[in-house]
Amino acid sequence: MASGLCVAVVGATGAAGQTTLRILEERKFPVRDLRCFASERSVGKTVTFQGDAVRVQKVEPEAFRGVEIAFCSAGSAQAKEYAPIIVRAGAIVVDKSNAFRMDPKVPLVVPEINPHAVRGHQGIVACPNCTTIVTVMPLKPLHDAGRLRRVVATSFQAASGAGVNGLEDLRQQSLAWARGEAVVPRHFQHQLAFNLIPHIDKFGSDGYTGEEMKLINETRKILEIPDLPVAPTTVRVPVFTCHSVAVNAETEEKISVTRARELFAAFPGLTLWDEPALNRYPMPIVVEGQDDCYVGRIREDLSHPRALNFWVVGDQLRKGAATNAVQIAELLVRG
Ligand code: A2P
Repeated sequence: MASGLCVAVVGATGAAGQTTLRILEERKFPVRDLRCFASERSVGKTVTFQGDAVRVQKVEPEAFRGVEIAFCSAGSAQAKEYAPIIVRAGAIVVDKSNAFRMDPKVPLVVPEINPHAVRGHQGIVACPNCTTIVTVMPLKPLHDAGRLRRVVATSFQAASGAGVNGLEDLRQQSLAWARGEAVVPRHFQHQLAFNLIPHIDKFGSDGYTGEEMKLINETRKILEIPDLPVAPTTVRVPVFTCHSVAVNAETEEKISVTRARELFAAFPGLTLWDEPALNRYPMPIVVEGQDDCYVGRIREDLSHPRALNFWVVGDQLRKGAATNAVQIAELLVRG
């Protein structure tokens, strides 16, 4: 019998779906049979996997017969519609959208942090929001060492976090600006080129955006600290790939800068890059294409005896989406 799994990628033409195909190749995930899905607009187009062209199919229940693991990155509304169909067909869904993350029956997993959570799945495992993943990676070793008391996080989020349309809008806006033409936003609500937009996802009545609420709620669920105070501000920046987050973390026990460096350096999936004297610190253009999240600018908070400030950057299409999803699938395969 042929070895390997029958794998589906839903949203295969999108930014996260394309990266999922690359990560499956890079990590040599045991794919026996690959089925790729996108919207009806893309049916008949092809995507590339291991050098072969794979035809994009329409999502319909029969198409998932025999599928064992399905990676979904086609958006929340689609996930709500498709995931139950895919699970009924017998597959486990690793979903990248916001549809199921806070459902108590659905594990929300960052494999370096809470791998045990996958064991409770009932057919769906959720992959956290990209900014949340980048933020929680360095928080976990600090929590284990000194118990987190409060987190203040300000994000600087890349255009590709908004998918291929976000990426293309920033590119077109930048070209128009460079040519001296009028900059007309097509995907973002405002000009993003050479600007900052402090608004990602819908505003709630309390003034927080959906993205900020994800950062609060998902951080608590992943770290298993249900009442952790988290104060977020999320900002879209004119960067193509990689989310950066400025974090202030208060702990019950004091953690020195030296100890924090040791903790970050030892934690899987984190790379310490903190050499201020050499002007070396994480930046999006350096971290793009990497699976690790990079941490630097580690300083004591001069206004608080038990808090640290630091800066973390992660490729949100890789660790913030596809790499994390494939790592979840690896946990599921290992059992
Ligand atoms: P398509 O390329 O046909 O629009 P991104 O996050 O980069 O915008 O990508 C979204 C992904 O989700 C794309 O692959 C897109 O396909 C896919 N998608 C969007 N709507 C649907 C739908 N109704 N059914 C299946 N896939 C969808």
